[in-house]
Amino acid sequence: MRIYSGIQPTGCITIGNYIGAVKNWLELQEENECLFAIANQHAMTVRQVPQELRERTYSFFAQFLACGLDPEKSILYVQSNVPQHSELAWILSCTTYIGELERMTQFKDKSRKNEDNINAGLLTYPVLMAADILLFKTDLVPVGKDQKQHLELTRDLAIRFNNRYGDTFVVPEPYIPKQGAKITSLQNPLEKMSKSDKDQNATVSIIDSADVIMKKFKRAVTDSENRIAFSEEKPGISNLLTIYSAFSGESIESAERRFEGKGYGDFKIAVGETVADALSPVREKYAAYMADKAELERIMKEGAEKASRIASRTIAKVKKKIGFVSD
Ligand code: TYM
Repeated sequence: MRIYSGIQPTGCITIGNYIGAVKNWLELQEENECLFAIANQHAMTVRQVPQELRERTYSFFAQFLACGLDPEKSILYVQSNVPQHSELAWILSCTTYIGELERMTQFKDKSRKNEDNINAGLLTYPVLMAADILLFKTDLVPVGKDQKQHLELTRDLAIRFNNRYGDTFVVPEPYIPKQGAKITSLQNPLEKMSKSDKDQNATVSIIDSADVIMKKFKRAVTDSENRIAFSEEKPGISNLLTIYSAFSGESIESAERRFEGKGYGDFKIAVGETVADALSPVREKYAAYMADKAELERIMKEGAEKASRIASRTIAKVKKKIGFVSD
């Protein structure tokens, strides 16, 4: 199967991104044809400092590699290095209704948070995301729950285009994990853990040091019941159990039994240690990749060339279908 997914280089890659998306990418790359992109064109929908965006793009790419995404198995690249993304986005935007875009919860959310910069890109962002996916004849898109609505739009656009112009795009399926599709903030367990959260204690980065990870988990907001059980009424503890299970491989039920009778303090330390241990090799490899920018650039270039080769075939087909004269 062809797999496609991406991540915006904003803030830092959190354990939410890791559990909801990257962890599944690692499994999927073993048996499938995968493409994973740093979606830097998406990041432009909020204001960026150019030098920081550039640095973060290298950093995210190094984190991809440090996590175990393997350029021998998957195509890893930076979105802006493959111009076909923008080309298809324009064509698809003429197949998209404004009402569909205005309904997107992420658009409404981000408009509220960036009142002084509600740019057109913020509105049309899901069209670019649809272009990302449809360019590569993607079968499956592994993402967290927050991307579900964008995936539904992608499917609608593919179907609409196919109906209007004849069979062109593969209609992709979302792949959303049953457990961990929405990891929540450590400071507000009712809200999604977000890369761009200003509160440092709310998120854990996959390259945080063990000390920092321990501190953040010790400060995690829970309830006052002191009973380690997964339930809707206990979002903080349920979130910690989900994180613990994702990094230890132990099921939530088994963890509940093992921590029965223990207090929240002990449990938070156990979660912190498990996460810190699991991420320590990632942090080490990350430092090594960041020390060799030339190698990062080589892998980026190779990935972009491979992606571009596939994308250009789709673009040629699309242009023919819509009546553009051939170049
Ligand atoms: P982004 O950069 O916000 O997030 C990257 C991936 O992480 C998932 N995710 C989470 N999963 C669980 N819990 C959380 N708290 C959490 N926060 C984020 C997201 O669902 C996502 O899978 N538009 C996308 C990037 C993108 C893309 C694409 C994805 C661009 N083009 C094409 C798939 C296909 C985004 O902003 O993800």
